[in-house]
Amino acid sequence: MSKLRTNYFCQSCGYQSAKWLGKCPSCNAWNTFIEEVIQKDGSSKTEWKTSTSKQISAKPKAIASIIYNEQHRIATQDQELNRVLGGGIVPGSIVLIGGEPGIGKSTLLLQLAVSLPHLKILYISGEESEQQVKMRAERIKLPDTLPIISNRPEAGCYIFTETSTQNIFKQIEIFEPELVIVDSIQTMASAFIESSAGTVSQVRECTAEFLKYAKETGTPVFLVGHITKEGTIAGPKVLEHMVDTVLQFEGDRHANYRILRATKNRFGSASELGIYEMQGTGLREVTNPSELLLSQREGDSTGVAIASMLEGNRPLMIEIQSLVSAATYGTPQRTTTGFDGKRLNMLLAVLEKRGGFRLGQQDVFLNIAGGLKVEDPAIDLAVCMSIISSYDEIAVPHDVCFSAEVGLGGEIRAVNRVEQRIVEAEKLGFKQIYLSKFSLKGLDLSYHKIKIIAVAKLDEVFSSLFG
Ligand code: TYD
Ligand code: MG
Repeated sequence: MSKLRTNYFCQSCGYQSAKWLGKCPSCNAWNTFIEEVIQKDGSSKTEWKTSTSKQISAKPKAIASIIYNEQHRIATQDQELNRVLGGGIVPGSIVLIGGEPGIGKSTLLLQLAVSLPHLKILYISGEESEQQVKMRAERIKLPDTLPIISNRPEAGCYIFTETSTQNIFKQIEIFEPELVIVDSIQTMASAFIESSAGTVSQVRECTAEFLKYAKETGTPVFLVGHITKEGTIAGPKVLEHMVDTVLQFEGDRHANYRILRATKNRFGSASELGIYEMQGTGLREVTNPSELLLSQREGDSTGVAIASMLEGNRPLMIEIQSLVSAATYGTPQRTTTGFDGKRLNMLLAVLEKRGGFRLGQQDVFLNIAGGLKVEDPAIDLAVCMSIISSYDEIAVPHDVCFSAEVGLGGEIRAVNRVEQRIVEAEKLGFKQIYLSKFSLKGLDLSYHKIKIIAVAKLDEVFSSLFG
């Protein structure tokens, strides 16, 4: 009798090793190695219908001879989800949705399932009972704009509480769903793998099985994935390589906004963003996020500046808040929420050196309102102005906004797609926007009502704003 083949896997990053290790050489985590059975004795792997899969060997083809038909995407009722997916669900695609517990992954997908009554949808729940899913479905009140129920009596959303992938595929073969939702991949277990559900090899195997199923039948599959403390999707990084699209669902659990972000997308842009609000009756799309992000302002307050930024193709006005106060204990603190700490340090150095502000002995706290994480460098100028506003205790007028990058020399640098940023600022009633002089080359600004102030140096902004 041959032995079971086992290996050790780091549960944090998926690193594989033949022997147990105390510290993972890949992600440096301690005590994360667990022995997992790779393959049961004697059993050859038989995944989704391997026996019936076609054995025709493919031949290389000239790229010019390949005929490409734009696949018909399934447009969902949810415009935010459509946008993030790149225009709807692609047949045969496999989408992984990651997010912290309680953020609303199950709600989002259940809402998707019940809003497409003309499709046969299988919602596989490994975490909740049928009653629990039903209770959630009752809470979600759908808008009245639902399509007319089709004349297919068998269509609709079906709930299946099962965790064994073999049983699931048996049912799928009979049921033939047009969309499959798996909540969550960490609760699924394949009989071909000995280890318990949620371990690296199980997660990987189950994903591979669903992947094969999706590709062979052209059925789109959504997988819910839990994330680790570090914020990456639990299970190996390979999971992200296997799937077509990775969406992150994030936001502050106590605030109501939720942001759905594509971090990988084989069928669209990976920089798109969807914004939702969690209400008592499920998730609602936020079609005009800027209004929401700015709504809690009253009059002028110090330490606040508004930036016009882009997330993917979407212009957003966001509020930057700073608090600058004299450091009482030794090294001054620099704390940021939603903004890169290193970039803040750089901007502080620029303000000190080029603007002559003595920030070296000040604590600086920076917060991007609404729980967004921003990488667009166009918010630099607003960050600088909110810091100076708090330091000098002078408010930036509430109808002024900024959109420019700040360079090491204190120069105001150009950003891309300025027109979109101007239009968004104008739409929200801002009266003035500060932009880099170099952003405006070749632009026709005559039809904008908003006053555009073109600047080249930080000093010019200070003197124009604060006199
Ligand atoms: P859930 O979808 O269960 O999160 P996940 O699957 O990511 O773990 O979301 C649960 C949270 O959302 C829970 O705290 C309750 C809240 N919620 C609402 O506020 N309104 C609703 O209509 C629903 C269904 C949930
Ligand atoms: Mg859930």
